[in-house]
Amino acid sequence: MSDEREFDLVLQGATGFTGRLAAAELCKRAPQGLRLAISGRSRERTEALAERLGLPALVTPGLDADATDDLAARSRVVLSCAGPFSRYGTLLVDACARHGTHYADLSGELVWIREMIDRHHKTCSDAGVTLIPASGFDSVPTDLGVQALLSDLGESLPVTGFFAMRGGLNGGTLYSGIALAEEEDPRAPIHPHLLDPDPEAALAATPRAIKRPAVFPIPGRGRWSAPFLMAPVNERVVRRSAALLAEEGAGYGAGFRYDESLLCANRFHAHGMRSLLGIAGQLLASPAGRWALGRFGPSPGQGPSARSIEQGFARLTLVAGALDAPVATRTFSWRGDPSNAITVNCLVQTGLALAAGEARRGGVVTAASALGSRLLERLAGVQALTWF
Ligand SMILES: NC(=O)c1ccc[n+]([C@@H]2O[C@H](COP(=O)([O-])OP(=O)(O)OC[C@H]3O[C@@H](n4cnc5c(N)ncnc54)[C@H](OP(=O)(O)O)[C@@H]3O)[C@@H](O)[C@H]2O)c1
Repeated sequence: MSDEREFDLVLQGATGFTGRLAAAELCKRAPQGLRLAISGRSRERTEALAERLGLPALVTPGLDADATDDLAARSRVVLSCAGPFSRYGTLLVDACARHGTHYADLSGELVWIREMIDRHHKTCSDAGVTLIPASGFDSVPTDLGVQALLSDLGESLPVTGFFAMRGGLNGGTLYSGIALAEEEDPRAPIHPHLLDPDPEAALAATPRAIKRPAVFPIPGRGRWSAPFLMAPVNERVVRRSAALLAEEGAGYGAGFRYDESLLCANRFHAHGMRSLLGIAGQLLASPAGRWALGRFGPSPGQGPSARSIEQGFARLTLVAGALDAPVATRTFSWRGDPSNAITVNCLVQTGLALAAGEARRGGVVTAASALGSRLLERLAGVQALTWF
């Protein structure tokens, strides 16, 4: 990659809710001399934000082919907070792949990520260009946590993750969920290995899933498990990491499988969370429900208060081995609101790691397979998380 580009890192979608937080975090964390810029579709708002932060502004109206081409050609790394990614992300990813520009984003749109893998993984892998979708709360904490636990254990075991969390809802996330549901029924089953290099081969080779009810008591913990909204994304990203790492002989082994759910205080909490998720799915599946969510939920550009972002948290407990006879348990405790503080820490540190040349491989990859323990160290270094 040429060093002669004008910028080391450009943050696209900087005027959105997470974009503004990411821009401020980048200014705080970027090493001296890193050539940063922000970009956005509105000249007025992008220039006003850039002036406040003391950064150059690039204007990318509509993220069209010319704008994305120019953006990707001018920077060594692009981070994107402009979603829904299935609507606004494709041209930018295409341009980054074409120009050899490293890239990371906040997408959690599985079908779109699969499309990006099919379009760009092979060429970017050969060229050493690293594209990392899902670099926010989904799915960096799960991806790095599973990798850290298994590399310490040195054994191939099934892992179950339980998330406990407190956080708010961004209007942009709701809008992305609505946009996704307009394209695919949110209740439709998703291939468990959708993001694997070869989904069918992976399915055939993987140990059969342990049949568990949607809500169940977790043995020996006095807690209950319920379905978790982000599990479909996190599980598939972790499986992609396992498959990509296996290509280099550093995979999680034949006994590995990963399932994730929500940790609930008791049976009533667990059944309540399951019902809420079911209602959200029903609403998203119908045009009237989507209209109501859009009308009464937060609008794009809105998000939780600064106080609520500060007071949020996510705790991921990973259990290796059978739940009633665990071999090891580790808890990763992340600071701040998941959709904002945690997401922004993950995205910014991923971008800084890419700019510092820390990626071990190219392709449409995952945080664990490209950056691994180095990214975990970076995140611990900025007090984003602790673990025990
Ligand atoms: N992975 C995670 O854990 C995680 C966490 C949080 C958010 N997200 C995702 O990140 C995305 C942003 O979330 P957010 O809360 O920051 O949303 P937001 O405040 O609505 O921001 C959306 C961004 O996209 C830009 N945008 C919208 N329409 C566009 C268009 N037609 N052309 C070009 N750019 C356009 C917006 O520009 P303007 O500012 O000009 O409107 C803004 O920068 C969403 O897709 C959300 O689902 C993921």
